[in-house]
Amino acid sequence: MVSAKTVLVCHSNACRKQGAAKVLAAFQAHPVPDVSAIASRCLGQCGNGPMVLVQPDRIWYNRVQPDEVPAVVERHLRGGEPIKAMLYPKFHQP
Ligand code: FES
Repeated sequence: MVSAKTVLVCHSNACRKQGAAKVLAAFQAHPVPDVSAIASRCLGQCGNGPMVLVQPDRIWYNRVQPDEVPAVVERHLRGGEPIKAMLYPKFHQP
């Protein structure tokens, strides 16, 4: 069984300017059971957005584009495997 997850899409100023609203809309357009996609306050990584944090996995994605969201949904949220090529390098070693 897959445990419940929350996808936090930063909706503070910097990430909004970089297109966070479309990223959140893309997650919400691909609903997954037991996964909530919500707008969050600033995640403290301004300028590297749109920032996405998947909890409780503590997996960070940065500069997420709306057309990349379906892959995150299929491989990470449904399949349980984070997409290494999209991880935020500051918090995930290559
Ligand atoms: S505005 Fe998104 S991390 Fe700060």
